[in-house]
Amino acid sequence: MSEEDRFDAVVTSVAGRVEPDAPERQAMEEAVERLTERTRDALSEFPVDAEVMQVGSTARGTWLAGERDIDLFVCFPPSLDTDELERYGLDVGHSVLPDGREEFAEHPYVVGELDGFDVDLVPCYAVDAASEIQSSVDRTPFHTIYLRKRMTPALASDVRVCKQFMRGIGVYGSDLRTKGFSGYLTELLVLEHDGFRGLVEAAADWNPPVRFDPADHGTASFADPVVVIDPTDPERNVAAVLSRENVARFQHFARELLADPREELFSPAEVDPLSAAEVQEGFVARGTTPLALRVSRPDIVEDQLWPQLERSREGIADELVRRGFDIFRTDAFADDEEVVLLFELAVAERPAIERHTGPPVHVQAHARRFYEGYADGDAYGPFIEDDRYVVEREREFTTAKSFVESDALLDVALGVHIESAIEDGYEVLAGDEVATLAERFGHELAHYLSPSARA
Ligand code: UTP
Ligand code: MN
Repeated sequence: MSEEDRFDAVVTSVAGRVEPDAPERQAMEEAVERLTERTRDALSEFPVDAEVMQVGSTARGTWLAGERDIDLFVCFPPSLDTDELERYGLDVGHSVLPDGREEFAEHPYVVGELDGFDVDLVPCYAVDAASEIQSSVDRTPFHTIYLRKRMTPALASDVRVCKQFMRGIGVYGSDLRTKGFSGYLTELLVLEHDGFRGLVEAAADWNPPVRFDPADHGTASFADPVVVIDPTDPERNVAAVLSRENVARFQHFARELLADPREELFSPAEVDPLSAAEVQEGFVARGTTPLALRVSRPDIVEDQLWPQLERSREGIADELVRRGFDIFRTDAFADDEEVVLLFELAVAERPAIERHTGPPVHVQAHARRFYEGYADGDAYGPFIEDDRYVVEREREFTTAKSFVESDALLDVALGVHIESAIEDGYEVLAGDEVATLAERFGHELAHYLSPSARA
């Protein structure tokens, strides 16, 4: 078989796996009907005309088999105040989904279960054009209208295959942890390239920044590696959250898939969790020193948590490097109860003293101040090297661990909720102690110690 035929065979097989079968489609349709009816009934209690609209992948036939999420939007007149929109939206949500709970995007909305489906019931404004939106959810109905017009069964099948491929390599999802491809972005890219294969072939050759403008808006410019101008809103890049890493990852695996088409790329790689002993051995073999900070998980949603973890991780890593503790790699882990920031150090200990270079001697005022500042102190020097004063002064922290355990840690720019969690108390694990993290984070540590091109 030629590479091309193998590619098609793999796609056909994956397409079969991820296509919802007739009973699933029917159950979905029935659930949507029942939901729409209940929502309309609930709305009839309110002194306002609102329209119910199904959006998202289940409205376009592009959902993956077994994915049971229904996105139902209630579109209120734009003249309604925000307070009323929120109140009506929640009332309708709770009456349609009695066991539902509230979540928060730009407005609060209700999520709950009905007939085994996960339902999001979201209030929005029925604006005339996406350019008149009051909040970003108002754009969503326009996406659905745009895509429905262009989606064919063959393209929908390719969208599902593409989503599954992106899942397999770990780049699907526009949440702020993944920073990958959203469902809408995937659909636009598949349409733009007339199918999955066209997209994969193009992506293999991308030289970012790459730009697509499906509706020829041709105006705004963006600094992102991939730009897809929203056909329904010229001011928005649909790929705004897509990270450079995930663009590179997608390109890497696009080339892999073309060179050696195989189904394995369409399933997330399974890693066995490491035991504590294996984690310890893993770091010993690398000859590095792991250092971890462990705190209770702040009570915030994932899309708040991950950016804060990233900011905290970067802040601490930069400060460690600035203080002479060179870093190999860092990571962050979280479960329902705890979060961990991991720093793998190339240098965990430094001498009692550090070099501190002063001004050139000929820069008189500065030089004199420097000299006088250090002449009577405990530092070695000032002595002269080349044309400058130099001192060797006492180092504030001689181990990375002592810095992380000190109050100086709180001078670092941290995510706000991570900072308060740290203020409430935290644990520092260094060297072999890090192995105890395997109990909770064995998978994450396995991934950390066997890095690959997949996310
Ligand atoms: P979903 O996250 O459910 O995506 O958002 P989806 O397209 O249905 O894809 P899957 O199959 O569930 O993964 C529903 C709709 O909300 C809008 C899009 O129109 C999307 O189709 N949306 C969602 C955005 O515009 N931006 C986002 O970041 C998320
Ligand atoms: Mn969805």
